Order: sequence, then structure tokens, then C-alpha cells
Amino acid sequence: MPDVDEMKEAKQYYTDIPQKTEGFFLKGSNSLDWGMKNRLARIFNPVSGRTVMLAIDHGYFQGPTTGLERIDVNILPLVPYADTLMLTRGILRSIVPPSIQKPIVLRVSGGTSILKELSNEEIAVDIEDSIRLNVCAMAVQVFIGGEYERQSIINMTKMVDIGTRYGIPTLAVTAVGKEMARDVRYFRLATRICAELGAHYIKTYYVEKDFETVCASCPVPIVMAGGKKIPELDALTMAYNAVQQGASGVDMGRNIFQAESPSAMIQAVKAVVHNSETPEKAFDLYNTLRNQQ
Ligand code: R5P
Repeated sequence: MPDVDEMKEAKQYYTDIPQKTEGFFLKGSNSLDWGMKNRLARIFNPVSGRTVMLAIDHGYFQGPTTGLERIDVNILPLVPYADTLMLTRGILRSIVPPSIQKPIVLRVSGGTSILKELSNEEIAVDIEDSIRLNVCAMAVQVFIGGEYERQSIINMTKMVDIGTRYGIPTLAVTAVGKEMARDVRYFRLATRICAELGAHYIKTYYVEKDFETVCASCPVPIVMAGGKKIPELDALTMAYNAVQQGASGVDMGRNIFQAESPSAMIQAVKAVVHNSETPEKAFDLYNTLRNQQ
């Protein structure tokens, strides 16, 4: 206990210095609560305002996807390069060491497989388990225009409500059914609906034409999904264009873990996303790192 007699007259009130009220760096997120912002600030780098999420959740509906057959062997070595891991609780508990320092975005919708109608999802993880797993966000698939559109939207709004109680953000993942046109009008529609209904950030696909209008009309951050494997330079170009046109990063899976050198690829993607490196220079980096292995 400090001796009361020795306590100095408090003089450090700095009455001449107004307390700073800082805005939050992330688009549309300034009115969120502290815990929610803190989790988002772990997912998105506060310096660049962007993220490289490594998506490895594909198995929740399609089993052992190429490149994800052995997550312990093929994916754990990539973790140091990722800003965030997006995965299921099954893989998190069975394979990822709990000493990991990376923020986790947990897949919480599910219940369907590639053998059936994919949009027929439910919420498949109790909020208590997300809290127990110390996740930084919860990801829900939203099938705008899909057979179970309404159900998937309500899955998302329920997670927004429940997550808001505990300060955990919801990531809406816009899914594109086989029958839907992947055009800019569709993605403007899908992302805006998710944002209007409360999603804290939204994952969507890149489109060549007018992608900047998808980002501009969505009031919260967008992260670009990678999609099917394409040549490395093309994937880097797509990521570059997406962030230059307003995306706050990427949530890439196959274009990283199916690359000839996944560790070189994720480092090249990071250069594009965080340092705005050109696709050509990032591809040089990719080749240099790949040749060093
Ligand atoms: C699919 O629904 C999963 O959410 C994946 O995380 C997503 O498709 C991103 O992975 P990829 O870059 O392989 O498309």
C-alpha cells in the first residue's frame, strides 16, 4: 500500500489536452462496440486496413478438397504467413495447435453436401462454442437467389443478433449457385442485402467489370473470395485489382493451397494486399521464393 502521506498532489490531469476520440480504421465499423472492433482489428491489419484470410473450410460441404487432404502437413506451414484462418471447428480442434496467435474466423453454417441442394443450410455451431474457441468472427453462407434464400439470410441475421451480444462479428459469405449469373449486378445485390441486414463484413467474388461499384455500394468491408484455381499471375492480378478497386483484402483458398508453391503464393498475395505491390512484381517474388525451396 502506498503511504498516504507521501501521495503527491495529483497534477497530471492535462486539463489543456482534450482526450482524443479516434475514428476506427475500418469502413462502416465506427459505431460498433469495443470488443467487436478489437476482433476486427485482429482480422484486418490496422496499418494497411486489409487482410489476407486463408480459407480452408471447403471440407464442410465437399470433403477432402485437393490441397486440403492433410491440413496438418500442407496447411499448418502456411499459418505464419496468413493474417487470419477461416475454417471449421472440427479442423480447428483436431489439427490446429491452440498456441496459435492468429485470429480465427469460424465457419458456423452448414448441414449440406455437394450431393444435395447447397443452399439448404442451418446454423451448425452454437454461439457458446464460438466463444469457447475464442473466435474473432463467424462466417455464414448467404444464398441470394438460391432455393433456400430466405433461410440462409435468416441464418445470417440470427448470427448477427447473437454475435452482437458477445462482440463477435459476422462475416456473410455470398454463395453463387450453379444457375446464377456471376455479374456485377448480382454481387451488388447480394453484398448490399447482407450489409443492410447487419453483416459486419462480406466475402464476395471478383468480377472484371465494375467491381468498384460492388465495393462502393456496400457500406462495410468486402473481402474477395479466390474461387477456382487459376494461374498464379492471374490470381495475383485479380487480388491486386480487387484491393485497388476497394476491397479490404482477400479470403483465398484454392488459389493459395493449390498453387505449385503455396507458401510462396501466400507471401506474394500478402505483398499485393498489404503493400499494393503490382501483380508482376508479386509474381517475381513468387518465383524467387518458389525457387528457393
Ligand atoms: C466456400 O464456400 C468456402 O467458404 C471457401 O472458404 C471459399 O470458397 C473461399 O475459398 P476459395 O478461394 O477456394 O474460393
